[in-house]
Formats: sequence, structure tokens, C-alpha cells
Amino acid sequence: MISFLRNKYLCENIFNMISETDFITNHYSTEINHGSSTWSAPSNIALVKYWGKKENQIPANPSISFTLKNCKTITKLSYSKKEDTANFSFDLLFEGKPKEDFKPKIQKFLDRIETYCPYLKNYHFTIDTENTFPHSSGIASSASGMAALAMNIMGLEKELCPSITDEFFYQKASFLARLGSGSACRSINGSIVVWGTHNEILGSSNLFGVEFPTLIHPNFNNYQDTILLVDKGKKQVSSTVGHDLMHNHPFAEQRFLQAPQNLSRIKSILETGNIEGFIKIVESEALTLHAMMLTSMPYFILMKPNTLEILNKIWEFRNRTKIPVCFTLDAGANVHVLYPENVLVETLQFIKDELVGYCQNGQYICDEIGFGSELIIDN
Ligand code: DP6
Repeated sequence: MISFLRNKYLCENIFNMISETDFITNHYSTEINHGSSTWSAPSNIALVKYWGKKENQIPANPSISFTLKNCKTITKLSYSKKEDTANFSFDLLFEGKPKEDFKPKIQKFLDRIETYCPYLKNYHFTIDTENTFPHSSGIASSASGMAALAMNIMGLEKELCPSITDEFFYQKASFLARLGSGSACRSINGSIVVWGTHNEILGSSNLFGVEFPTLIHPNFNNYQDTILLVDKGKKQVSSTVGHDLMHNHPFAEQRFLQAPQNLSRIKSILETGNIEGFIKIVESEALTLHAMMLTSMPYFILMKPNTLEILNKIWEFRNRTKIPVCFTLDAGANVHVLYPENVLVETLQFIKDELVGYCQNGQYICDEIGFGSELIIDN
């Protein structure tokens, strides 16, 4: 019976038939009174960007990202059964100290996922979280943070229902993380992750991220991402507001056609190892993302003068040396410098000599492609 169900589940996945209701867990076979787990989850950087969404965190277009290795959130979730099951109950600690201003976001997340995890109100939680990157670095911690929390919640669900498959475990973790923050669903599992239905990506879904399903050319093994911290202040416009401005945006329709085309192109680029093609798509996607911000109403600019200085320096260096270094941007002023591992020494030298001067307090973070979330401690 179990194998029949599992096969049914796999078949549905192949034909992309999984619906939200498949993630509702109502039956528990084990009683758990208390426990804890610790998971880490990395940040990710999109190559084809998610910008614009529909109701319930459904993306307006598919996106694809590199999972990072060093920039991550580590979260310990402790839980103990409580009598009163009317409300959620949780304490939130950031780097060991209470952090009240993070609580509304977590409360909203729990409200959104309650239907799928009805056991949550049976417990009091302590969420103890920290990042490996500086909090005020301008690196968004929502992707890694929501992913790490979702993994811990699935850890509890697995305790309650030990029979759930690994496939279900990771898909539901990504599904839950997505409800916390869209891009978080790409921080769960795999080095390169696609989120959003795309007819050339087997198993792709609007509901959760899937690992890029075909073999990646060795040119992209250990691809490097050096993150230049240009501006560490809080953004004037949040991503959530930016996504919203894609409604009635004059260029939205074109953008939502372009993104899946770029995903098709990057798919074959990743398979064939075409780094020149990679550079074109990735830089164009970064600038298109910011072009959408420049042309929304109200319009806004998240790049800083030093962001533009860095982009020009990268173009000049690439033209001069033919070293295939490129950039991408997320919704902020920082620059992600992407390059193959075999040019690491020359590129780091270039960064130190010519780019660090544009970073706030000379700060940058060396990262590379990683693998996804990891169980650190299971009690
Ligand atoms: C520019 O995932 O932060 O980084 O779903 O509202 O939490 P919410 O937005 P978020 O948006 C990320 C936008 C982006 C592009 C990307 O990561 O694909």
C-alpha cells in the first residue's frame, strides 16, 4: 500500500499534478511531547529573477538560482506540548537574545502555514537563530531564515509522522518556506534550483523549488560568488512592495514572457558549459530586474553610485583580460561577482585591487555554489 502511494505521488510529481492540499498533514502516528532540532539553510542568488507574484506566493514567472555555501542561517527549534491550543506561542531569539521586531514576520508565516501543519498550535516554540553573515550587510536573510525554519518544522512533522518520504519532506519544506518568502523555496535542496512551472524543467512547480534536473557542465562546478557589500543600510523599498508594483506595470507582460525564455536559454547554457552565454543572460537579468524598479509607479532606485562604478570596472576588466567575470544583483545595492573556480586567483586580486574601494568599510564575502540545507543537531 505504501509503495502504491509513493508511486502515485511520484507519478503526480512527474506530471506536475501536486496541489496545495497534498501538503495538508492531518494524521500523526506518534505523540511527541518535547524535543528540538537545528538546521542550517543557505542564501541563494537568482540567475533568472523572480519579480512579480500572484495570490498566495505564486510567482509570475519561473526563476533559477545558485545555492550559496557560506552565507547561511542556523536555526534551533525547541518545542514542548502546551495545554491551550487556541493560539501560536513562540519566543524568538536572534544570536541568543530576544528579538521582538522579528516576531510579526514569524507570526504571519505561522498563520500562512497553519492549514498545512495543524499541529503547530499544540506546541510552544523557541526559535533561536543566527546568520553566518553580518545582519546589517544588506544580504537578505529572509530566504535562508525562512528555509531554516521550514526545515525544522518538517523535522517535527517527521517525528509526528515517521513514514513520510524524503521526497515529500523536502518538497513540503520548500512549499512552506515559499509561504514565508518566495525565494526561500530555492534554499532547501540542490546546487541549482528552479522555482515555477516551466515546460522544459521536469517536475517544476509553482508550489516549491526543484533541483535542476539535468547534468550541469563541469565549467559550472564550484562557481564562485564574491559578494561586494556596497551599502549595508536598510533598503528604502522592500522586495514585497517591489513585487506588488509589477501589478499594472507597463512592461510586466513583456517581462513575464522574457523570463521563461531566459530560463530555457540558461538551461542549455548550464548543460553545455557556455560561459559567454551565461554572462549575457545573467547580467541582462540583473539589469532588467532593476529596470523594472526604475519604471514602476512609484519608481525607485536601489543601486548606489558605487554599484555602477563596480559594474563598469567589471566590464573593463573582462574586456581587457578576457577573464569571464560577470555580475548579478539582487534587490539592493550589493554586487554579486560570479566567476569560474579556475580564475579565482586573478579575480580575487582584481577585486582587492579595483573593487574593494567601492565597498562600505571595504567589506566583501567570498562564497560559492553550495548544496542546500543541512541537519546540524537532531534531539
Ligand atoms: C530580487 O523572495 O525576497 O531577490 O516573496 O515577497 O519574500 P517575497 O520576496 P523575495 O524576492 C526576491 C526577489 C529577488 C529575485 C529572486 O531572488 O529571484
